[in-house]
Amino acid sequence: MDLRRLLGIETPIVLGPFGGMSSVALTAAVSEAGGLGSFGLYGLGPDRIASVGAELRDRTARPFALNLWLPFQGPGERAPGDDFDRAEFDRAVAGLTDLFEEVGVAPPEWPVSPLPDFDVQLEAALAAGPAALSFVFGVPPAEVVEQAHRHGISVIGAATTVPEAVALEAGDVDAIVASGLEAAGHRPSFLADPEDSLVGGLALIPQVVDAVSLPVIAAGGIADRRGVAAAFALGADGVQVGSAFLATRQSAAPEVHRERIRSADAHDTVLTRAMSGRPARGLRNEAVRAIEEQGGRASFPLQNILTGVFRRRAAELGRPELLSLWMGQAAGLSRSDEALDVFAELAAGVPGDRA
Ligand SMILES: Cc1cc2nc3c(=O)[nH]c(=O)nc-3n(C[C@H](O)[C@H](O)[C@H](O)COP(=O)(O)O)c2cc1C
Repeated sequence: MDLRRLLGIETPIVLGPFGGMSSVALTAAVSEAGGLGSFGLYGLGPDRIASVGAELRDRTARPFALNLWLPFQGPGERAPGDDFDRAEFDRAVAGLTDLFEEVGVAPPEWPVSPLPDFDVQLEAALAAGPAALSFVFGVPPAEVVEQAHRHGISVIGAATTVPEAVALEAGDVDAIVASGLEAAGHRPSFLADPEDSLVGGLALIPQVVDAVSLPVIAAGGIADRRGVAAAFALGADGVQVGSAFLATRQSAAPEVHRERIRSADAHDTVLTRAMSGRPARGLRNEAVRAIEEQGGRASFPLQNILTGVFRRRAAELGRPELLSLWMGQAAGLSRSDEALDVFAELAAGVPGDRA
């Protein structure tokens, strides 16, 4: 089915979700412009999810998507829902002492709260009435897909390789985000290690298009009309864009982060486990270097929770060298700090018969 008809949108441009960094203003702006705004629900509990849904509906009557991380056990990680390990916590906190001191915050105390339960998040997300639910880190279980479909909600999965796309189609999702290695943020691989799933968009998109019969949304490294036109030429039915939108004033990224995406030196990105315990693409800054050098890092999600403590304070202090400066390989193409300008630039690359 045509992606626009599936999602009820005019222009096949999707704003990527930003777990921990989505804003209602940006999501609504993209939906209002005729694309699909997505909001990342990573780490949010049911009350916050309900209020995000209500705020989005206040701002737009158009379709939007909500995004959830599936409970997934990556290599070296504890099973989702298991308690954190005290020794791992102590080791990781000791390794981060300099960074806590640098911004003048006390290290977190044991025990730290786990991530919200997936089933509770899902229930709240379904109740919020999105047009689509998008998932990362796996094939959503059959009962999750059925529940979404019963609510009239489309399901979008994310693949980093052809076998992942095939697995998602077998899992009855409605559309697939094909995420090239250029993309910002976490690499959502689930059949092989992310480091063994590093396929660039130019190779990934046409092979996913050939392997599945579902609409394919190209993600990673698309920041202007040329990238959009290229994705369509490779057979994609739509594009998902992160960094270029994250750089706008409507985004929830700290100002220093937005500026760095638009700056001339937004090129030195790296896929690193330093900040969260899982490989994610961002600028190689002082904090990434310091954590990579000292070792002793915790696994996901504990590392993400621990570094979040100094990252929040660093944002308040305007210290980009101590933030997670998530951005993709095409961040250097980002020019505008206005979401509608970015949208118009991207829309200019959509072929006439799809616009
Ligand atoms: C700060 C940040 C957080 C992200 N969080 C999520 C997330 O929670 N779920 C998800 O599916 N994708 C997430 N992504 C990936 C984006 O939605 C999008 O697919 C990616 O940025 C596309 O690559 P680009 O930045 O090169 O355009 C995140 C990206 C960034 C920059």
